[in-house]
Amino acid sequence: MEKIFTVRLSENQAAVEIIDQTLLPNEIKYLKLRTAEEIFEAISELRVRGAPAIGIAAGFGMYVLAQKIPFEDSVEFHAELSRLGNFLISSRPTAVNLSYAVKRMLNAANGKDKSFALPMLYEECTKIYDEDRAMCRAISENGLTLVKDGDGILTHCNAGSLAASEYGTGLGTLLLGKEKGYNFRVYSDETRPLLQGARLTSFELNHAGIDVTLICDSAASMLMKQGKISACFVGCDRVAANGDTANKIGTRSVAVNAKYHNIPFYVFCPSSTIDFGCKTGADIVIEERSGDEIKTKFFERPTAEAGVNCWNPAFDVTDAELITAIVTERGICRYPYTESLRELFGE
Ligand code: MRU
Repeated sequence: MEKIFTVRLSENQAAVEIIDQTLLPNEIKYLKLRTAEEIFEAISELRVRGAPAIGIAAGFGMYVLAQKIPFEDSVEFHAELSRLGNFLISSRPTAVNLSYAVKRMLNAANGKDKSFALPMLYEECTKIYDEDRAMCRAISENGLTLVKDGDGILTHCNAGSLAASEYGTGLGTLLLGKEKGYNFRVYSDETRPLLQGARLTSFELNHAGIDVTLICDSAASMLMKQGKISACFVGCDRVAANGDTANKIGTRSVAVNAKYHNIPFYVFCPSSTIDFGCKTGADIVIEERSGDEIKTKFFERPTAEAGVNCWNPAFDVTDAELITAIVTERGICRYPYTESLRELFGE
């Protein structure tokens, strides 16, 4: 199969190009996003998803949109760019990478007329992408110090190259390890209700030649009891200053189960996902999505009556005490995270 890409700037720089992840694994289709509405829709519908990937898409998106702003003067240009940035940020609330990328783009343009701002914006969005690649690589190298050949790894949701650039975060260690000759046995939670584990993680690992077994989320505890899991690997959408970590709904259950079975639970986190502005997980806004994703989205016929109430939070917060280590590009942090994160990243 030809190598796929997750998100990039089009050759003529007039569009953000993404693979439409809602169609995977059945169809490989790329989209060109040219307007703020198209970028917003692609992020909110999870055509592009995963914290780093939506940050990269927003960075490229701001550059694409900036070129079309009809004002040359720095004040009017920046006001319109801020309006567009706020619109993009409102597409999904939980992953901090989105607002992080938009803020970087706004800072790059600050105080400059359009013609001076555009080259700076191009440089900044390219930097966001390149930095993510470098961070994912370093995170993956650091992760390899925590595992050995033959380990059984449980993962939840998708934190691979479809969620970031190149290696990804949570799956990066597995992809890099494969290149270096490690053989892992990976168990992928299907990840209800949007099935990122089934549709994306097992697709990615399968194509990378990694031994992957798809399980229902509810089977994870049994696997742990049977001794098949050496470690749990997950990504994250926002890490608070004390290490509380927002990630895909169900992550906290994996962590609680891992604690009970004495299995290390690792969070893989680029610095772009740490939010020192959130003191604890209680400050993280959790996205709630339509109940139709639970009842109808992936089924031929509804699984519940139309009138049945649903609660569909897209993320949960794993308490810092449940996390064995947070693996970053600068090194591996251990509890208590308020100190260890600040030691590595300052503030
Ligand atoms: O709703 P999604 O698919 O965007 O959720 C993604 C996750 O929860 C990932 O684990 C997280 O963004 C880390 S990606 C490196």
